[in-house]
Amino acid sequence: MKHQMMIVLDFGGQYNQLIARRVRECGVYCEVKPYTTPLEDLRAMEPIGFIFTGGPNSVYLEDAPHVDPAIFQMGVPVLGICYGCQLMAQALGGRVTAAQEDTAREYGKTETFFDTSCKLFKGLPEHGVTWMSHGDYMEKVPDGFGLAAHSKACPNVAIADENRGFYGVQYHPEVNHTENGLAMIRNFLYEVCGASGDWTMGDYKRTAIAAIREKVGNGKVLLALSGGVDSSVCAALLAEAVGEQLTCVFVDHGLMRKNEGDEVEAAFKPWAMHFIRVDAEARFLDKLSGVTEPERKRKIIGEEFIRVFEEEAKKIGTVDFLAQGTIYPDVIESGAGDAAVIKSHHNVGGLPEYVDFKEIVEPLRLLFKDEVRQLGRELGLPEYLVARQPFPGPGLAIRVIGDLTKDKLDTLRDADAIYREEIAAAGLGIQIGQYFAVLTNTRSVGVMGDGRSYDYTLALRAVTTTDFMTADWARIPFETLDLISTRIVNEVPGINRIVYDITSKPPATIEWE
Ligand code: XMP
Repeated sequence: MKHQMMIVLDFGGQYNQLIARRVRECGVYCEVKPYTTPLEDLRAMEPIGFIFTGGPNSVYLEDAPHVDPAIFQMGVPVLGICYGCQLMAQALGGRVTAAQEDTAREYGKTETFFDTSCKLFKGLPEHGVTWMSHGDYMEKVPDGFGLAAHSKACPNVAIADENRGFYGVQYHPEVNHTENGLAMIRNFLYEVCGASGDWTMGDYKRTAIAAIREKVGNGKVLLALSGGVDSSVCAALLAEAVGEQLTCVFVDHGLMRKNEGDEVEAAFKPWAMHFIRVDAEARFLDKLSGVTEPERKRKIIGEEFIRVFEEEAKKIGTVDFLAQGTIYPDVIESGAGDAAVIKSHHNVGGLPEYVDFKEIVEPLRLLFKDEVRQLGRELGLPEYLVARQPFPGPGLAIRVIGDLTKDKLDTLRDADAIYREEIAAAGLGIQIGQYFAVLTNTRSVGVMGDGRSYDYTLALRAVTTTDFMTADWARIPFETLDLISTRIVNEVPGINRIVYDITSKPPATIEWE
C-alpha cells in the first residue's frame, strides 16, 4: 500500500530530522530531501505537502539556497519554518532584510500571540511561548498573505495564505520549547494537507526490512551486539530481514549487571540467526587488573573489545556488511567536531577498520531513541530489553571506583540489583532517566550485630534527564531510599554504608568515572 507522504525540504537547519520525527509522530510518512532535489523528482513522489526547514543562511544573500518557484504552483501546501518561511516570503514577492537591533531579531523563548481562526492554530490557546532563532525580518509580507501570529517585537511571527495552503512561522514548532508546537504541525498535516494518518511504526518496520533486503541481497552481515536497546533492536530487525545471513557477536566482558548476559542470550537464542556469546570476563579482568584511572579503563576496554570481536570475525571469514546500531542522536554527537572530550564513549562514532567488510548497514540511523524502542516492541523484543536504561559500554568497570576485582564487581552487582528491584517496585522507573549503584573506594567503620565492621560505602545515583547532556538528581522518596539502604546493608556482605548522590550535571557527570 502506498502511504501519503510529506516531504521535508532541507535547507541545512539543525532540527531537520526532528521535524521529520514530529511528522512521523503524527502518523504521516515523511522523507527529508535536500533543497537541490529536482522539482520533477519531488513531483513524482506525490507529496501531500512540503515543510521547508530552517537554515543558517539569509535569503537575501547571493549564494543562499533557493527552490524552483514552480514548487508553489504544484497545488500542494507548504509550511515554511524560519529560513523556510523567509524563503517562501521572498519567492512570492515579499521582502526580507536583516533585522535592526530594536525591531524583530529574536532568539530563545518568546511570548507569542496567535490568531486561532488560522487553521495552523485551530483549537490552541491564543498565546504561548515559542522558540525563536532568527536574525532576519520580513519587511514586506507577500500579497495574499495575512498575519497569523505576532510577538511584542515582531508583527509577523506567522503568516498565512489559507487559499493556497501556504504557511510560514519564524519560530521552531518542532522543538519542545515551543508550547503546542507538535499540535501546530499536526494541524498543518491534518487540517491543511488532509492527512489521513495512515502510517505507523509497523509500516516503518516493513519498509526498513524491505530496504535491508534490497541492500544486503545474499550477503553476510556481522553485528556486535551489546544487549543495549540500539544494538538489540538492530539485531532483531536484521534477523527479521535476512535471518541466517546475520551473525551477532555478543562479547560478554563480565562487566554487565546481574544476570544481564543470560538475559541477552535468552532473548536472542530463539531468533533465526547465528548468535555467538563470547565469555571474555577473564581476559578483561586480567587486562584491567590494578588499573585505577577512568580514561585508562575505558581505553583498555575499548581496545580489548575490538580484539575479541576481531578474533570472532576472523573465524567467520569475509563478511559483506558490518551492521551498527547507530541512531540519530549518535550521528549528531559524533559530528560535533571539536567539542571537548569529557569522557571518551567508545561505542559511538567512527567506523571500525579492523574487520574486513564491504559496506556498513545502519538501519536505525534516522530514528530517535523512543522510536527505536517502539520499533523494538513492534519486532516482539522483550520489554526488559526495549525499555532498558542506557548502560555505558565499559559497564560496571566505571562504577567500581579505583581498581577492579571480581569480588568487588559481584558485590556491586548484588547491590545494584536490589536498588533496581526497589525502584521498579516503587513504580519510579519510568520517571527516572538513569539509576545505578556505585561502589566507592571508601571504607568506613560500622557496627553489625555486636561487632565492628570496616566495609565499603555504596553510592546510589539517580537522575532525571531528557538528553543525558544535562541532568538533575532524582527526588526519590525517603521511604524508598530507606528501604533500599536497609535491604542492601542487610543482604550484601561487604557494604555497611549507603550514600545518595545529590549533584546535578553539570557540575557533576552522571557516571562517577
Ligand atoms: P556522563 O557520565 O558523561 O554520562 O554524564 C552521560 C551518559 O553517557 C553514558 N556514558 C557512556 N556510554 N560509553 C558509553 O557508551 C561510555 O564510556 C560512557 N560513559 C558514560 C552514561 O551512562 C550516561 O547515560
